[in-house]
Amino acid sequence: MGVFEMNHPLIQHKLSYLRNKDTDTKIFRETLNEIAGLMTYEATKGLRLKEVETETPIMKTTTKVLADPVAIVPILRAGLGMVEGMVTFLPTARVGHIGVYRNEETLEPVYYYCKLPVDIAKSKVFLVDPMLATGGSANYAIDYLKQKGVKDISFLCIIAAPEGIERVQEAHPDVDIYAASIDEGLNEKSYIYPGLGDAGDRIFGTK
Ligand code: PRP
Ligand code: URA
Repeated sequence: MGVFEMNHPLIQHKLSYLRNKDTDTKIFRETLNEIAGLMTYEATKGLRLKEVETETPIMKTTTKVLADPVAIVPILRAGLGMVEGMVTFLPTARVGHIGVYRNEETLEPVYYYCKLPVDIAKSKVFLVDPMLATGGSANYAIDYLKQKGVKDISFLCIIAAPEGIERVQEAHPDVDIYAASIDEGLNEKSYIYPGLGDAGDRIFGTK
């Protein structure tokens, strides 16, 4: 269990496009998905395998396939921006959705939607959201998943603030956190700095 900052050169190179305020919506979306895909490769290293009988064109043999069901759960809206990149590497994963936004005045998470795969309790869940700021939204979503019986959760984000990491680790020490960058902190509006701004607005072009 722990916190993993993904310093791979390709991830860091792509992250510089996301941070640039002049990057347009198209490039922002594409790059976000590319980073999410690269992160998936790393974050899935610990997945369990099982052996199955397989017949090659030459002979019978055993091969290895994923042992447990895998689910990707984006926190709406911004988490949606990572899903396409992740399913490239996890094509059999099911996708659930949790709708939570943060009230910009109180900073409290506000729940509005959830739809999860039926076998979610048995699944390895990758909970995804580009931004881990105060940690309120992530903690809400992790609490929610645990109430549904989920036992194995990893949280993937693009940028994490130290404050958010601390809060999630305190409440959920069993959840691994993967981030492309751990930034300096939160500003007076609880936005991450240097950060990349409002991820949802940049993905969907709403500002
Ligand atoms: C953003 C972000 C996280 C949350 C992080 O979503 O995508 O979900 O804020 O902040 P926190 O760690 O302080 O809770 P937002 O509430 O802007 O909603 P959106 O995805 O609909 O844009
Ligand atoms: N949500 C965002 O989208 N960006 C931040 O910096 C903080 C919360």
